[in-house]
Amino acid sequence: MTLSLIWAQTPDAVIGVDGALPWHVPEDLARFRRLTDGHPVVMGRRTWESLPPRFRPLPGRDNVVLSRDPGFAPEGAVVATSLDDALAVVGDRDAWVIGGGSLYAAALPHADRVEVTLVDLATAGDTVAPVLDERRWVQTAHEPAEGWYTSAAEGTRYRYITYGHRPDSQPAVDPRLQAPHRVRCDWGRAGARAVAAGSDRIAVVVDVLTFTTTVAAACAAGIEVAPFRWHDPRAPRFAEETGATLAVSRATGGPSLSPGSVRASGLHRLVLPSPNGATTALTLAATGATVVAGSIRTADAVAAYCARRLAEDPRLVVGVVPAGEGWPDGAFRPCAEDLWGAGAVVEALRRHGATDISVEAEVARQAWLAVADDPVGTLRESASGRELIERGWADDVTAAAELDADGCAPVLVDGWFVAC
Ligand SMILES: NC(=O)c1ccc[n+]([C@@H]2O[C@H](COP(=O)([O-])OP(=O)(O)OC[C@H]3O[C@@H](n4cnc5c(N)ncnc54)[C@H](OP(=O)(O)O)[C@@H]3O)[C@@H](O)[C@H]2O)c1
Repeated sequence: MTLSLIWAQTPDAVIGVDGALPWHVPEDLARFRRLTDGHPVVMGRRTWESLPPRFRPLPGRDNVVLSRDPGFAPEGAVVATSLDDALAVVGDRDAWVIGGGSLYAAALPHADRVEVTLVDLATAGDTVAPVLDERRWVQTAHEPAEGWYTSAAEGTRYRYITYGHRPDSQPAVDPRLQAPHRVRCDWGRAGARAVAAGSDRIAVVVDVLTFTTTVAAACAAGIEVAPFRWHDPRAPRFAEETGATLAVSRATGGPSLSPGSVRASGLHRLVLPSPNGATTALTLAATGATVVAGSIRTADAVAAYCARRLAEDPRLVVGVVPAGEGWPDGAFRPCAEDLWGAGAVVEALRRHGATDISVEAEVARQAWLAVADDPVGTLRESASGRELIERGWADDVTAAAELDADGCAPVLVDGWFVAC
């Protein structure tokens, strides 16, 4: 994957004012279209809103829009809640970050190339391009060779400059990837990108209360499960078109995120949205990773599946991802039960012969071993367990802690978790 940034700026680095471009250079817009055509484009919510409605989403390109607002649902675009999330959606594909100022600054450390259009204007603005550190970036091309182009529209002068990395500025391998271990572990979607994204990964997503526990219960009962992003308005139509049943909220009594509600439902296919586990699973699937739903109920079966795949293909790595929770303000909350679930899988992987385990995966394993004598009692005492018990779902908490109660590995195949 090559990640490129593209922007137009004045010599003073101005790129925007009042939510718009301070100039009109149609030739530059045509080049922008040519370069980005066919590739995913990643942008901030304000840049999305600055696009004329008839160009939203930008045609011929997968549009990925960053926003921290859980209610933001732009039509025709995928929403990412962090840069890591957006990059995971993009996966192995060559992609462009197209603005605005906040996104350029955040994405620059990840970029391989920067395309700058220098616009010869002295205009005031409220948004600026980031500084390209000369120790890291060097001009690799510029156009025209001498002087400027002149726009036919308003006579504005402009030229194009391409930047690449200096040959001697190779960054070291990021230690947070936990390379070269073959069993790795990190939290949430950001951690998932580090250890579980890519076509050489088996991504074991663990959301014990309750997404992956419910997937385990469903798959063990022969039900296929399609994960969906939380509040994704496309879920009802997808369910209708695929002959599936869309999960409802727990209180209504139908199939829901409650494992007990799906086990004896007699369903064939279930569409199951969830805020953490499903979203993390979809984010990782988009990177080409093989996604497996890990849980305490399926720890041994999931480990057996992973160990088999590791033995077959020496390039494969297992990234175990405790999905974690969200606080009401959107902040990430690591939770004990997902660490235990991840650790139960790592412990089973060890039993199945895996030895190359990162420190972080070993910490998860030790966390599991600390409670393995009484997982049901411990989960019922945990903060998340008590929360669910107080809401009347004690049976779900008990079920979630039953070690190896389901003998299948739920693997995401063509958008559906199926028992393997
Ligand atoms: N000259 C150029 O080439 C060019 C190109 C593009 C844009 N622009 C200009 O740039 C200006 C817009 O830039 P901007 O910096 O104000 O806004 P922006 O980067 O387009 O969007 C900012 C918004 O994106 C979301 N966001 C940013 N980082 C995030 C992260 N790490 N995680 C989750 N969400 C994140 C937030 O949305 P929420 O508030 O919804 O959480 C944030 O408010 C406009 O004037 C536009 O015309 C110029």
